Amino acid sequence: MRIAVFRKAHFNAAHRLHNPSWSDAKNDEVFGLCNNPSYHGHNYELEVKVVGEVDPETGYLIDLKILKDIIKEEVEQRFDHKNLNIDTEEFKTLNPTAENICFVIWKLLRAKLDEKYDLSVRLFETPRNFVEYPA
Ligand code: NI
Repeated sequence: MRIAVFRKAHFNAAHRLHNPSWSDAKNDEVFGLCNNPSYHGHNYELEVKVVGEVDPETGYLIDLKILKDIIKEEVEQRFDHKNLNIDTEEFKTLNPTAENICFVIWKLLRAKLDEKYDLSVRLFETPRNFVEYPA
């Protein structure tokens, strides 16, 4: 039986959308309030979807404790209560848009998850704005 299992998580983080190769005027024009030099914060909500075959012996697709711990170690401990631009290696040079954060999280989780599972990640930057990888 092929099935999907979901785990939700959240983290709070600050960021600034900025392209250093552009002028201040162009950054302001493109990113607006998100370019605020003093940064701003979001309550990010994460939905992680794991798809695969149920193990007939356990009845599990994946032990949710294991998935919970992977998300905690790879995402929450890395990004929660951080300034993404300043405090994290991942976004020192990569613009921390919801798109890029979602993809980075997918890569971090993918590296820790058994290859037999399919993985997708949905990241809510606000209750109404969210992105998903893979598309
Ligand atoms: Ni923002």
